[in-house]
Amino acid sequence: MAIYTATSLLFLGAASAAAIARSTYPHGLCHQFDVAITAEAPGAVYALPQVVDDITTVQWAIQADTWSWKARPDHGIVKNITIAGTYNIHAQLCVPTGPGRKTNVLQIATHGGHYDGRYWDSEYKPEEHSYVYASLAAGYSILTYDRIGAGKSDIPDAYNGVQTGVELDILRQLTKKAREGSLFPANSWSDAGLEVSTKPDKIVHVGHSFGSVVTTAFLATYPEETDGGIITGFALNKYFGATGFSSWYAQYAATAGWNRGSGYVVNQKSGIQVVFFGGDPATAFTQELLDYGDSIKQPVPVGELASGAQIIGRPGTGLKAPIQFVLPEFDFFICGGDCKGLTDVATLRETWPAASDLELVIQPNTGHALPFHNNATAGFQLSFDFLARNGL
Ligand SMILES: *[C@@H]1O[C@H](CO)[C@@H](O)[C@H](O)[C@H]1NC(C)=O
Ligand SMILES: *[C@@H]1O[C@H](CO)[C@@H](O)[C@H](O)[C@H]1NC(C)=O
Repeated sequence: MAIYTATSLLFLGAASAAAIARSTYPHGLCHQFDVAITAEAPGAVYALPQVVDDITTVQWAIQADTWSWKARPDHGIVKNITIAGTYNIHAQLCVPTGPGRKTNVLQIATHGGHYDGRYWDSEYKPEEHSYVYASLAAGYSILTYDRIGAGKSDIPDAYNGVQTGVELDILRQLTKKAREGSLFPANSWSDAGLEVSTKPDKIVHVGHSFGSVVTTAFLATYPEETDGGIITGFALNKYFGATGFSSWYAQYAATAGWNRGSGYVVNQKSGIQVVFFGGDPATAFTQELLDYGDSIKQPVPVGELASGAQIIGRPGTGLKAPIQFVLPEFDFFICGGDCKGLTDVATLRETWPAASDLELVIQPNTGHALPFHNNATAGFQLSFDFLARNGL
């Protein structure tokens, strides 16, 4: 059994002291910082082609979409390995400052593929498109972070370094640190004269897309370690992923100008629209939103995509906390373009029989990237209402 490790020597130890305040929202305050997270999980070496230019990128997508490849009972596993390391994780913690703030509830939000933590905090019209902004206005704290392989977190080997198993353990370790109050140095808030509880009583786990795959695995595997789940842009159904990776119009990340190595691919703008935007083009989103959604995209590592089966679809029989599913009406990648009628509460209950509350909502006239559509804030509110109804 091989052990692949990744260590950021610069970030060993506690959270970097050089935390910086990003922005002061009308209802809260945010700090960005780096934290060292030690994690370990089973992984695998997959029979993947070497992706080193645009031609091998397209060939990878075709192979991944080929029916006989997808049907392989061994999921293409050549060898089982352990993936372990101490990873530098770039994060942002925002706390509400307004009256009625709930300083005892922390949301931990995990972004999906093709993005980083900025997915949750649009700098374009944040009052209309930032889930972080809306959370603060609703009185909730929120931790967002870049998954490994994206943004300002560590960028490990694309084949054997970034896989779902280790990302699940990173979310677990982040949650542990948040619970014990060691995620973030409390005195970093003193510059704002703000007294902040660094130990939340309740933690709600929020996910989008691939981040929802990681988050549902967390809720299923460690049900005692969460107080609630908000699962956006993900539910298993017969059209899940049916549009395939070739619909991404991916390029080799390095040829597209990214500082990334072998195995990292990035969507062209048309692929960003295909995967993330949907609904009536006259009313659902704007050119500016599409431009913004393209401007903050990230490359994805092929090994991570191959590793979905490591954690997807685990039974959530132990979860007693409330869980909400938010599906975009016209989600192309998750629902083959129309989420209506593809799943229901009874079907979801088979996976989460003991959840104290289980809700499924469909956000109308919206594609996969919920925040980047015109009616985003009304969708965010559905989740805050759900949390409030459940005493969170
Ligand atoms: C990897 O582990 C799985 C689960 O234990 C096992 O079924 C499979 O045969 C292993 N694959 C290889 C190539 O060793
Ligand atoms: C906006 O979203 C809310 C919440 O889902 C929904 O009730 C409302 O009908 C939507 N408005 C439009 C114009 O789609």
